[in-house]
Amino acid sequence: MKLTLQTSEKTLPAGLQAVIVPAEKEKLLGSLPPEHASWQGQVRGILKKQSEKVLNDGMELLAAPERLLVVFQIPQKKGLGPEECLRLAAGKIIDVAKGRSLARIGIAFDQAGQAEFRAFCEGLLLSAYEFRKYKSDKKPDKPAELEAVLLVGAGALKSCRTILAEVETVCRQINQCRDLVNEPGSVLNPPAFADHVVRAGREAGLLVTVRDEKKLTDEGFQGLWTVGKGSDHPPRLVTVAYDGTRGAKSAKGKAVKAPHLCMVGKGITFDTGGISIKPSAGMWEMKCDMAGAATVFSALCAIAALKLPIKASAVLCLAENRPGNAAVLPGDIFTAKNGKTVMVDNTDAEGRLVLTDGLAEAGLLGATHIIDLATLTGAVIRALGPAVAGLFSNDAGFAQTILASGGQVGEKFCQLPLEDEYREYLDDPTADMKNVGKSEGGAITAALFLQEFVPAKTAWSHWDIAGTAFVTGQWKYFKPGGTGWGVKTLVEVARKLSAG
Ligand code: BES
Ligand code: MN
Ligand code: ZN
Repeated sequence: MKLTLQTSEKTLPAGLQAVIVPAEKEKLLGSLPPEHASWQGQVRGILKKQSEKVLNDGMELLAAPERLLVVFQIPQKKGLGPEECLRLAAGKIIDVAKGRSLARIGIAFDQAGQAEFRAFCEGLLLSAYEFRKYKSDKKPDKPAELEAVLLVGAGALKSCRTILAEVETVCRQINQCRDLVNEPGSVLNPPAFADHVVRAGREAGLLVTVRDEKKLTDEGFQGLWTVGKGSDHPPRLVTVAYDGTRGAKSAKGKAVKAPHLCMVGKGITFDTGGISIKPSAGMWEMKCDMAGAATVFSALCAIAALKLPIKASAVLCLAENRPGNAAVLPGDIFTAKNGKTVMVDNTDAEGRLVLTDGLAEAGLLGATHIIDLATLTGAVIRALGPAVAGLFSNDAGFAQTILASGGQVGEKFCQLPLEDEYREYLDDPTADMKNVGKSEGGAITAALFLQEFVPAKTAWSHWDIAGTAFVTGQWKYFKPGGTGWGVKTLVEVARKLSAG
């Protein structure tokens, strides 16, 4: 999918097979140049006599004098804000273009505001994504080859160019995140994932450090080691650092510490459940259990590419949760990096174990703000479904920043309580705590467990993305597979922290 910008005040660029005029009732997002006034008339005619029958999915194709014309009505879906509806609309355009084997289309935007333009471009890039690596037919599907010429007013060309560059940067990272999540577990095992981050991270100018199994045991990263030791593919703790404040003048007289945002990701490259093995139905989906790690890495790459003036890092807790002779047994006790002891009651509650080390590493790095992302619990899927992620935080202001960021970029959160009444569910007679509570409040007890490992005096938020990170069917403008959910909010949070 290629996006190019052009002005179209007098004439349309040559070679377009279709021109798309998105319209919502009479309020056009874009219009056609005067030379095509007759088309405009036809557009209005169609919109006027629109009935459900006429506008199939909000679209109608007209045989215009020279070219095809797609009249497009923004589909409205309950629960979606206007910008999310535009992303969905963009997805429908991709479908039409694909269905008609179009290679070059124009989309009229001259009446659109910046937020609308941004959302539409995002929708085009995210909906055109496909994971075709394992298809024997290597030809990419049409959207990959498709070029969309974005027709904007001359006055808006400059601002649109800036927005488009930003959107392309972020969506490239979102789609790379989806590539990682969609990769089979046996291909992207922990060492392979770490190698990928070393390569891609260094290409992006980031500093990458990898701790292998020896370093993990030597340095006391027992949580990650405990989960990963059952597999022939050993665990890795990968730290990626970016400093966008270098060379920036330090604000004189400012006593406050410059923010350092550390994003920690659960990176279980496959979660069989371990000795507490999962049922086989649907187990394949557990290749997505590294989505947190993929998301934080992609977000950091985007933050670096956008050159945001902030110190930020990503910590990827990579392990394969798999039964084997050396696998952790239920009842085993280990000492986490911060000294607390944990009894492993259920080896399938492994995400929180690997995150103890991610949180410790964030502390060692001197993070002022920590966000961990994890496909952590089935409970959050039952509570919130695929549209909304669970958010927990020990800092009301930080939670507000995140909620505001999510609202701005179109990612939904629901804040859940760190309910102290349930802390006793984790009590254990032999160790400081066990790794599972009761079946009730499962997302909350998981978060309470994590809270035990948050470094002192640090603003922290935990995002349970088990529902939002991966879909098994078409979801809005996302094909089945990874969604890259969270990258946009992380970038926005980094932007806000760097400005504050
Ligand atoms: N990776 C799973 C959670 C998950 C489930 C993610 C479905 C995505 C889709 C996690 O490691 C897990 O197994 N959680 C258990 C915890 C339980 C044993 C306390 C769960 O939620 O059932
Ligand atoms: Mn599990
Ligand atoms: Zn898991």
